[in-house]
Amino acid sequence: MPAERNLFGLSQQAKARLLETLAAPRREKRSSAESLRAAPPPAARLRAAELEGAKEIRLIRDAARSLGIANPFFRMHDGIAGAETTIDGRRFVNFASYNYLGLNGHPEISAAAKAAIDRWGTSVSASRTVSGERPVHRELEQALARLHGSEDCVALVGGHATNVTLLGCLLGRSDVVVHDALIHNSILEGARLSGARRLPFPHRDHEAAARVLAEARPRNGHALLVIEGHYSMDGDLPDLPAFIEVARRHRAWLMVDEAHALGVLGAAGRGSAEHFAIDPREVDIWMGTLSKSLVSCGGYIAGSAELIDHLKLVLPGFVFSVGMAPSAAAAALAAITVMEREPDRVRRLNHRASLFLRLARDGGLDVGGSIGASIVPVITGSSIRAARLAQALFARGLNVQPILYPAVPERSARLRFFLTADHGEAQIREAVAALVEESRRIAAEPVDLAGTMRRLLAGAADRV
Ligand SMILES: Cc1ncc(COP(=O)(O)O)c(C=O)c1O
Repeated sequence: MPAERNLFGLSQQAKARLLETLAAPRREKRSSAESLRAAPPPAARLRAAELEGAKEIRLIRDAARSLGIANPFFRMHDGIAGAETTIDGRRFVNFASYNYLGLNGHPEISAAAKAAIDRWGTSVSASRTVSGERPVHRELEQALARLHGSEDCVALVGGHATNVTLLGCLLGRSDVVVHDALIHNSILEGARLSGARRLPFPHRDHEAAARVLAEARPRNGHALLVIEGHYSMDGDLPDLPAFIEVARRHRAWLMVDEAHALGVLGAAGRGSAEHFAIDPREVDIWMGTLSKSLVSCGGYIAGSAELIDHLKLVLPGFVFSVGMAPSAAAAALAAITVMEREPDRVRRLNHRASLFLRLARDGGLDVGGSIGASIVPVITGSSIRAARLAQALFARGLNVQPILYPAVPERSARLRFFLTADHGEAQIREAVAALVEESRRIAAEPVDLAGTMRRLLAGAADRV
């Protein structure tokens, strides 16, 4: 995480003072020895309110409540969330689901999932290694390998868990993970588990990645260079051929996370290799998830037959975890079939997203480096502005999620729009018009954050 991340724009020191005041009764200054002696023993029972981060969450919630901002998370949807969705009985134009190709609820895909349940039940009831292997697992893996131009593939129950278990298993203390500064949390968690040195480089900067590798390349250990094919928060791309060259020059393994690239990049939606017309074998590890374009649940790794054979014997998240539910595997497999048969869905998705991007830019909004393939951020520069803007749009029938501190640095707080092939042009034009109007209105009505914080602090002091 970038070091300068600030709570509501407060400096680190101000934030620490604020949290200290909220957390603790006022007391006289003590020496550190006295403090140690005075420190209360650990609580006998687990109290979530005392866990790390809990005070910060409380403070954020109190501040939002004081500013009249409703909780934008855990909204209850009903029915299928596509270009539209139903929340609390009301219809919304929806920009908050990964259903890029509009395949969720497709009759052929739902029928395939139901047929899989009829044939194999709702669970395979064992790890695949022991007695959980079903034909649908292998058919899905072969289809994914073919899409990525790889020799083989292994599919696991979760996308996040796939990255964690892969990095945790592949690397050790004498290795190094060099990754884009905006890489997904699952890579960071996997790196932490592995014990390898973790070295971020500035977003998309392959020259910086080369410098980091040149300095940090362990003499005996391995180096893994990790990028995303299409970045989930910003909707921009790495220069993949340049990263391939850097990886080869520094004898690093190259891994590309295709979570938001499959079904989005390349004329047929085959992802980054198709988009950049590279030989897929130049990338050592293709990783992807089934939860985005493929409207299912799970993660996968594609690569050489030798690599996949090895991983299937050693990956703890595969060997010691249940095999994918047959319905999830069958749904993803059917989604691949529909995607390959109807490439127009990819073209429509890209067209809608680039229309959204162009209109938002013309309206003076900050859309960062998005290429307008399926993800368009609208950067507000403050969590409060992002939350207020999302709330104002919600009131106008538009569902879009704000991304707030600490998920991104405070100055990068944003709304993130996911486009789908099913969004109509009129829906996009109306949404962007409302977005431009509301962001101007909100920018013209700044909130008194300092006053709110003072009131919260005074309230906290009263409670002490
Ligand atoms: C880049 C990236 N990798 C991995 C994941 C994890 O995938 P899943 O949500 O399918 O667990 C995500 C999830 O959004 C992601 O954006």
